[in-house]
Amino acid sequence: MRIARPQKIRSLNRYNPQGYCWVVLTYHNEAVIASKNLWVEIGLKGVLAAVDELNDDQVIALSEQFGTHNYHPLPINIVRGDGPWVVDGQGKHYLDCVGAYSAVAHGHLNKAVTETLLRQLERVALTSRAFYNSELALFLMGLAQYCDLDMVCPMNTGAEAVETCIKLARKWGYTVKGIPDNQAEIIVCADNFHGRTTTIVGFSTEEGYKKGFGPFTPGFKIIPFGDIEALRNAITPNTAAFMAEPIQAEGGIIIPPDGYLSQVRQLCSDNNVLLIWDEVQTGFCRTGKRFAWMHEDAKPDIMAVGKPLGGGVLPVSAAVGRKEVMQVFQPGDHGSTFGGNPLGAVVALAALAEMENLKLAERSAELGAYVVDRLRALNSPLIHEIRGRGLLIGVEVNPGVDTKRLSATFVSHGILTKETRHRTFRLAPPLIIDQALADEIVHRVGKSLKESE
Ligand SMILES: Cc1ncc(COP(=O)(O)O)c(C=O)c1O
Repeated sequence: MRIARPQKIRSLNRYNPQGYCWVVLTYHNEAVIASKNLWVEIGLKGVLAAVDELNDDQVIALSEQFGTHNYHPLPINIVRGDGPWVVDGQGKHYLDCVGAYSAVAHGHLNKAVTETLLRQLERVALTSRAFYNSELALFLMGLAQYCDLDMVCPMNTGAEAVETCIKLARKWGYTVKGIPDNQAEIIVCADNFHGRTTTIVGFSTEEGYKKGFGPFTPGFKIIPFGDIEALRNAITPNTAAFMAEPIQAEGGIIIPPDGYLSQVRQLCSDNNVLLIWDEVQTGFCRTGKRFAWMHEDAKPDIMAVGKPLGGGVLPVSAAVGRKEVMQVFQPGDHGSTFGGNPLGAVVALAALAEMENLKLAERSAELGAYVVDRLRALNSPLIHEIRGRGLLIGVEVNPGVDTKRLSATFVSHGILTKETRHRTFRLAPPLIIDQALADEIVHRVGKSLKESE
């Protein structure tokens, strides 16, 4: 077996009879994996022992050979997580400002979350949705209350939560609003990011996300983000919903004009159009409030949530909404084998409790404003703009700055951040950081920028 990528690997690890057979050789500058019976050996020796035996080059080679190439990771092999820190194979510590794209709000391996998870593992982890379970019952109530909404449809990933919102809105459109069959429209925004299913990428404006994946689901209208007049003009009698992120995170930390969120709420109410906020990335304290819509009291009819709901350890997501909308789902309309499993349910409840106990919203508001001020005070000639709300911060660099090189410089100074669109580096550290770590982030970013001038 040979692989074409990565060409850089130069390691030569001979077969080790005491260890595993996964040997990475270089052969005419190509990595060759020489392992046949991995699963038999892992069964005999234990998975974690097998993991411990891999070196960084082997990790990269195996990932490139056996995994599809739909990501382009930095060459860092993370072996441990600890609060706001991650550690690589050489023991180097990094401040994790990517944080699984805001999912690690609690830091890595939050104790309350992991203890709950371990204790639940002595009971039951996965049941069928054909039956009830107490953990799910409490999760449904807890999440509805936390969101100040009525009902919850549990899922796993953010994209599933968004898909669920789309189905709810369409069914509401036909059964409650009276839109003629198959005519329902959902209005969305340019530069959106709502996930990666074929329906969702179909209404993306990012060519790279959709090229080669059509044909796409019809029924979506795209308008500019932050433009209330565009929304007013786009609404028709067949409009079931408007769906947007309250701050476009993947789109480059784009914050809409003041007043936009509340104007959207009013316009939707006036026209009997559902308002769907995708709070998968902005939700759960990231922007300094429980949810970003709370900055303008623009309460949605349905909302997609995910990421930090899993406490940084499991995928847990949901569509949460008003009863009038949520009750359109009848048995058989929608489902997920893993959505609402007892293990995920208790982890999510522990995650919600920790958000309150640790005052993550207040912390995010205070430290976010502090970090933004200090970053602006750096006055780096490389920076075009610093944008942020809470600890969702974008550092946009000027055209001409070599972002790949800057990214590598950040890494060399022990800070993990990757650029989103519009030449913007996202700083979304775990919300558990304190002032000293906020200073440390600014210090490391400043050093990296200076070095790249
Ligand atoms: C706003 C938003 N919605 C949906 C998603 C998709 O979430 P997932 O990757 O868990 O499917 C993301 C992921 O980054 C997101 O930022």
